[in-house]
Amino acid sequence: MGPEHYAEGRDDGAPSASFLEGKHLNLRGLRREDLEYVRSWWDNAEVTAYMEAGACPTTDAMLEEFYSAANQSRNSVVFVAEDRSTGRPVGLSGLYEIFWPGRRAEFRVLIGEPGIFDKGYGTEATLMTVEYGFMRLNLEVIHLGVNVANARAVRAYEKAGFVREGVRRKFVFARGVYNDAVMMSILREEHPTTKAP
Ligand SMILES: CC(C)(COP(=O)(O)OP(=O)(O)OC[C@H]1O[C@@H](n2cnc3c(N)ncnc32)[C@H](O)[C@@H]1OP(=O)(O)O)[C@@H](O)C(=O)NCCC(=O)NCCS
Repeated sequence: MGPEHYAEGRDDGAPSASFLEGKHLNLRGLRREDLEYVRSWWDNAEVTAYMEAGACPTTDAMLEEFYSAANQSRNSVVFVAEDRSTGRPVGLSGLYEIFWPGRRAEFRVLIGEPGIFDKGYGTEATLMTVEYGFMRLNLEVIHLGVNVANARAVRAYEKAGFVREGVRRKFVFARGVYNDAVMMSILREEHPTTKAP
């Protein structure tokens, strides 16, 4: 089965070409046919409950912009997370605002279906993307900001090794309230794959 087969998509049940393989998830690049999934995730109020995303309905222009940035920018790497057992896209995970001289990047993750929250997918996508950042991109620092009210996300990030470093006051506006953003990071030297044996 050659690459041309993969390029046709998965309607025929063919496996998709994965870039990173995990226990329950595979991570691969964003494709145009993923965009309707992305729209449904961004437009789902439960998914964006703690995020500034979701302020407006997702437009074609927003999806195009996201697709172009994911595929053309050298300063971000965007993955679609696929459920390994079904091949179905379940979310996004990525490194953004990569600053090459300082070797740092911002991490963002989104599992798009509330019905599969708390099953470990977010933590797994985080672990895989962080390892990718350190081992393949040779990053030094991976950082993020998260709404303090998003306890599930904070917990998932802590499980994946992120450390709280402070708060930005009233930095997130979601659902009519300003909340503090917890700033978190993981350093290369803290990551198991980079520690000396
Ligand atoms: C945040 C998100 C990535 C987490 O992924 P997930 O697959 O749902 O979460 P995981 O199963 O990996 O881990 C969640 C952990 O939080 C815990 N948790 C859930 N709700 C919690 C709460 N209200 N308070 C404290 N912990 C909570 C779970 O029990 C689990 O911890 P455990 O394994 O020790 O039991 C995912 O839910 C998501 O994408 N949500 C919508 C978008 C979003 O908020 N993205 C993050 C923006 S910064």
